[in-house]
Amino acid sequence: QRTYTIDVIAGDGIGQEVIPPAIRCVDALGARHGYSVVWRERDWGSDYYFTHRRMMPVDGIEQLADGDAILLGAVGHPDLPDHETLWGLLIPIRREFLQYINLRPVRILPGVVSPLRKVTDLDIVVVRENVEGEYSSVGGRVYRGRSEEFAIQEAVFTRTGIERVARFAADLAATRRGRLTSATKSNGIIHSMPLWDEVAADVVRDGAGLTVDSVLIDALAAKVVLDPGAFDVIVASNLFGDILSDLVAAVAGSIGIAPSANINPERRYPSMFEPVHGSAPDIAGRGIANPVGQLWSASLMLGHLGESAAADALMAAVEQTMASGVLTADLGGRADTSEFATQVLRRIDGG
Ligand code: NAD
Ligand code: IPM
Ligand code: MN
Repeated sequence: QRTYTIDVIAGDGIGQEVIPPAIRCVDALGARHGYSVVWRERDWGSDYYFTHRRMMPVDGIEQLADGDAILLGAVGHPDLPDHETLWGLLIPIRREFLQYINLRPVRILPGVVSPLRKVTDLDIVVVRENVEGEYSSVGGRVYRGRSEEFAIQEAVFTRTGIERVARFAADLAATRRGRLTSATKSNGIIHSMPLWDEVAADVVRDGAGLTVDSVLIDALAAKVVLDPGAFDVIVASNLFGDILSDLVAAVAGSIGIAPSANINPERRYPSMFEPVHGSAPDIAGRGIANPVGQLWSASLMLGHLGESAAADALMAAVEQTMASGVLTADLGGRADTSEFATQVLRRIDGG
């Protein structure tokens, strides 16, 4: 019997609602596929902050370090500033554990009609650089107390950082349809982007079954809306990848379906699996959140752990549920979170 130790941080808002179905599904699959999970439930997040004035314990990162993976819900509270909550929990995990790849696949799942009704063909993975770029703390400062207030932040792009994400994306594209698009903005006065282009071009070349394109981010956003079927793998910097992943998910129906895998490819540290969406305070507490982004994230986690049969079985159960017309409200359906989860579990137990 294989045993995994998984840290689970449900966190804030709908994170509390979509994590329980994911735990139930992973456990149910374990019974059929020969593994078991020791869940280390962490009550970290904004409620923890209200008592302890921090988002996680001082040694939180060390507590996570010996686990096999981290399953996270969402972080963000309407009464707390995002820079406090996110830099207090989510961002340190990504950085301390060198999860420099943020893999964000999106497809049009069965039963879903894209809000752009003409779109029927979409199967894209955004490979987002996850530890540097525009998300840097360097120089991050707001200068107040003068008539001209201003804020400064420096972006940090390293050759190593660009190389490894470009290589990962190229390898992934080679296992798919062989199309790699690099999101850039080297025409503007973003001085870091010419380096991004140069290093990406050094690492990945057309040929050997791979088609490589570099597309300016503004035009790329428009093309993804107009012709998403033309894209396969998109490699992007931290901020561009963040924006593109919500855009692609929405074109495929809802940001509620989109998963993400924050990966440390060398496996020196645990990787973290979380939906692309946030804590959704506007619908939190009503039990109507779409759990698909969290379930798909759990499936990516199982794949990462080597449990690929269980990972596939989880997605099959999700897709069969959706194909049968059981959808949450964000996709125009009437199922609530728990009804959707019950249907998925029924299919896991039956199959
Ligand atoms: P959001 O993703 O939480 O919500 C955006 C919109 O999508 C909302 O209308 C919401 O109701 C809807 N939505 C999101 N997930 C859904 C789901 N599973 N089912 C149905 N509808 C869903 O983004 P936001 O409102 O901009 O941010 C809210 C908070 O979450 C902020 O504090 C933000 O910083 C944080 N956030 C955290 C993460 C994370 O933890 N990884 C990601 C994004 C945003
Ligand atoms: C995401 C989120 C985070 C990000 C925020 C909450 C810091 O939007 O995971 O997409 O920008 O990385
Ligand atoms: Mn985001």
